[in-house]
Amino acid sequence: MKFIPFRFVPKSFLGVDIGTSAIKIVELQSWGSRKSLKNYGELQSSSLYDKPFRSLEKNTLVLSSKDIARAIKGILLESSSETKRAVFSIPDFSSFFTHFSLPPMTKEELGEAVKFEARKHIPLPLSEVTIDWQIAQGRVDSKTPFQILLVAVPNEVINQYQEIASFAGLQLIALEAEVFGLVRSCLAPTRSPVVLLDIGAQSTTVNVIVNNVLKISHSTDIAGNNLTERISQSLSLDKKSAQEQKHAKGMLPQDLGVILSPLIDMIGAEVEKISQEFFQIEGKEVERVVLAGGSALLKGLREYFETNLKKPVDIADPFGRIFYPPILEPTIKELGVSYAVALGMALRGLE
Ligand SMILES: Nc1ncnc2c1ncn2[C@@H]1O[C@H](COP(=O)(O)OP(=O)(O)OP(=O)(O)O)[C@@H](O)[C@H]1O
Ligand SMILES: [Mg+2]
Repeated sequence: MKFIPFRFVPKSFLGVDIGTSAIKIVELQSWGSRKSLKNYGELQSSSLYDKPFRSLEKNTLVLSSKDIARAIKGILLESSSETKRAVFSIPDFSSFFTHFSLPPMTKEELGEAVKFEARKHIPLPLSEVTIDWQIAQGRVDSKTPFQILLVAVPNEVINQYQEIASFAGLQLIALEAEVFGLVRSCLAPTRSPVVLLDIGAQSTTVNVIVNNVLKISHSTDIAGNNLTERISQSLSLDKKSAQEQKHAKGMLPQDLGVILSPLIDMIGAEVEKISQEFFQIEGKEVERVVLAGGSALLKGLREYFETNLKKPVDIADPFGRIFYPPILEPTIKELGVSYAVALGMALRGLE
């Protein structure tokens, strides 16, 4: 038998993002520190069920676990993926985020203190949620207080994801709020505060991030679907044609800019409100905005925000540090940003 050093055994993981409009899957492989894209694929909900995969009103998913699992299996079959280990993302609007501070204490005391404090902050009984937390600021065994970031997810949501994974024949390694996947795939740690803006189909999440730690997160329901509806009403087009127009033309002034700018301004106002809230807490200005989610691809959006928010605005480049065949370059350039959550989940698996 040949000796294969442990670190050179390739590892692979799936990252699964069940969004409103589509399920996206990324399969990553790592050899030592080299991470490469093995597969990726998506299925639009409209092509399968004529219903969104999930909705904002209800915490749980719109379709049954079996239907969603079937869609996942379809994607994996098409991409001939054999990896079974998967990390799934949970929608930000199903996760409850809170921050609080705790006095200096030992590592052993911290766990208990977080649980105790959590009761005061979470609107549901602790028996109905699963909590996860990280130290946002402060160090164990130092004299400074801790800032704790706590995430609580209803057990009902977790149970449904476990069921989906099991029906799809996957081994669920972890579940994580979308925003953490986005941070992992889209940002490099930096001390200057960044707004990571995820504009999807049904919801938009504004996150303030410092040194890759989430400070504030807020979701609203103004997103890609509203833009499509606005075009459909203004130009008397059906939804499908309106969406095609949106993708083809974008919001350049000569195209759909006049129609779309009132809605985009509402998203911009949300960014400013959350940045202001962050300034009041930490006394620091947000210095940059990074766009993610499928709607980040709206032509002219980056420039529009840059002018109106008066800050540098970039479109995220989640695959920047991932190896992939050169033939995929144009596709990754065009679609990469909409796979940022799925990629972040697969990266979590490799950690
Ligand atoms: N080229 C494009 N121009 C404008 N919008 C686009 C483009 N490509 C995709 N979109 C929009 O992006 C949205 C889908 O984004 P994404 O895939 O991030 O959503 P999702 O994760 O399914 O939804 P959510 O996060 O709200 O649950 C749709 O509204 C779609 O019209
Ligand atoms: Mg999304």
